[in-house]
Amino acid sequence: MNKGNKLYEGKAKIIYETNDKYLVIQHFKDDATAFNNLKKAKVEGKGVLNNRISEYILTNLGQCGIKNHLIKRLNMREQLIKKAEIFPIEFIVRNIATGSLTKRLNIPEGTVLDKPLLEYCYKKDELQDPLVSKEHIYSFGWATEDEIKLIDSMTLRINDLLSGIFRGIGIKLIDFKIEYGKVWNESLKKKEIVLADEISPDTCRLWDIKTERKLDKDRFRKDLGNVIQAYQEVARRLGIMPEETNISEVNFGKTVPIKLKKK
Ligand code: TMP
Repeated sequence: MNKGNKLYEGKAKIIYETNDKYLVIQHFKDDATAFNNLKKAKVEGKGVLNNRISEYILTNLGQCGIKNHLIKRLNMREQLIKKAEIFPIEFIVRNIATGSLTKRLNIPEGTVLDKPLLEYCYKKDELQDPLVSKEHIYSFGWATEDEIKLIDSMTLRINDLLSGIFRGIGIKLIDFKIEYGKVWNESLKKKEIVLADEISPDTCRLWDIKTERKLDKDRFRKDLGNVIQAYQEVARRLGIMPEETNISEVNFGKTVPIKLKKK
């Protein structure tokens, strides 16, 4: 598979075209950002870990019937994926209240929600990804009612499966963000909705069950230290670290600040 031109560069990943018009390469960078890019740093080794963790999770979800964009991991930092038209929406699921929910509605931190709470944010950096309702999504044509119905049911199933995967390794899934896209299905001769992007400690809140120690990007957002060690811990518990890869070649552990602006 030949790697072609860069198609898109986001905050944590780069997408490259390939010689197959239906496939692209997703490259995981070490860059970490928070608060819509106000805080930035390089966390050495993060891209390698997220590549492995996301591969593991999407493969497992795929085996449980969740269609997703992953074809295969190519190397330490890259995956071959299906080229998707991404819905401009971040789909957030919350099991326990924390983060922006506690701030926005003054819900006490750690409140266990009666049932998973689904939220939708419009993906628009300039607007800081505002929370929107389903009515906004339909009104502005970001997705149809049928599409959201299917996505909601996939999202709740993903929450159940992910909660189980993490519970099995002593981790509570507090909340997470996922994205979906439409890909061309050659045998069906039509587009279908698939889970896209990544699922990793960048996009989930993961707390150790016993100690409630944070094992996710909140360590970076809140300057808690040991960011990469937390990601390594997740990978180690999932059984994908470090023996099966030559991951030790990567220089782990340093967080190099790039820029820190006041809001
Ligand atoms: P929030 O509490 O900051 O709204 O975050 C909810 C979940 O979404 C949490 O697991 C972190 C994840 N998330 C992302 O993956 N990307 C983002 O840009 C934001 C704001 C949150």
